[in-house]
Amino acid sequence: MTISLLNSTNISRVGFASQFLGSNSATKASSLAYLSFNLVQTSRRQSYKINSMSKAEISSSDQVKVVISLSPRVNSVKPSKTVAITDHATALAQAGVPVIRLASGEPDFDTPAIIAEAGINAIREGYTRYTPNAGTLELRTAICHKLKEENGISYTPDQIVVSNSAKQSILQAVLAVCSPGDEVIIPAPYWLSYPEVARLADATPVILPTFISDNFLLDLELLESKITEKSRLLILCSPSNPTGSVYPKKLLEKIAEIVAKHPRLLVLSDETYEHIIYAPATTQALHHFQACGTGL
Ligand SMILES: Cc1ncc(COP(=O)(O)O)c(C=O)c1O
Repeated sequence: MTISLLNSTNISRVGFASQFLGSNSATKASSLAYLSFNLVQTSRRQSYKINSMSKAEISSSDQVKVVISLSPRVNSVKPSKTVAITDHATALAQAGVPVIRLASGEPDFDTPAIIAEAGINAIREGYTRYTPNAGTLELRTAICHKLKEENGISYTPDQIVVSNSAKQSILQAVLAVCSPGDEVIIPAPYWLSYPEVARLADATPVILPTFISDNFLLDLELLESKITEKSRLLILCSPSNPTGSVYPKKLLEKIAEIVAKHPRLLVLSDETYEHIIYAPATTQALHHFQACGTGL
């Protein structure tokens, strides 16, 4: 990011930048010195090499480079392998190689017209204002209706929070309950964002392998052996991306019994793909299991 110091208008931009960096500068003129001071301080804290500068050194034609570094929290997150694979597939396709894309979980059809029309109509009808943070009451009531009708579980609208995507919901849930040092248990193979979301919450992902011979389902003894007093979340994904496994009712009951023995351990049940399922499998919402009353 470059801040130009070209005229008096831009001086006030420097004043703004100075405040952004934490200065309490009272006047625009003194904010230059504060900016210089803060840049040096910032660079020391984050071990970034930056040339210190003084008020005298900043002439009206200088461009001042501000170093914006990422926080250790963001730096701990690895780049998305899904995006890397998608980019690679795009490059291959552009080079004329026939590619079947299995990276991003995106359907091979456009948004159905009925949904697109509903969105367009909603905007035309003025549904463009802030909503309650948890989502409109009408939508939360409709979700409760869906949960009752399709999943047989009872919720009230005040127990529902709507977000922009499953990823956002998962991030918010993990941030809401995990403290630094907590452990998040993730059966592998897993959706690649789970460990990164745990890291964003300063928690430690604990990966439990599963095997094709077990239909990639969690081994109960392994689960029990990995639960510690730091275990905060078990993330279950059923039907699973990427394995396609569906947890049968009996296995979920047993997992619920194990989880119930550990009051600090919660379950985040990712049921994003509940409708992508093939007979004879049937999906089970984890909330059916009372023993697991701590499910998120
Ligand atoms: C298992 C799983 N959970 C959550 C998500 C995120 O879904 P959304 O696109 O709604 O953020 C995905 C997307 O690929 C997924 O595979």
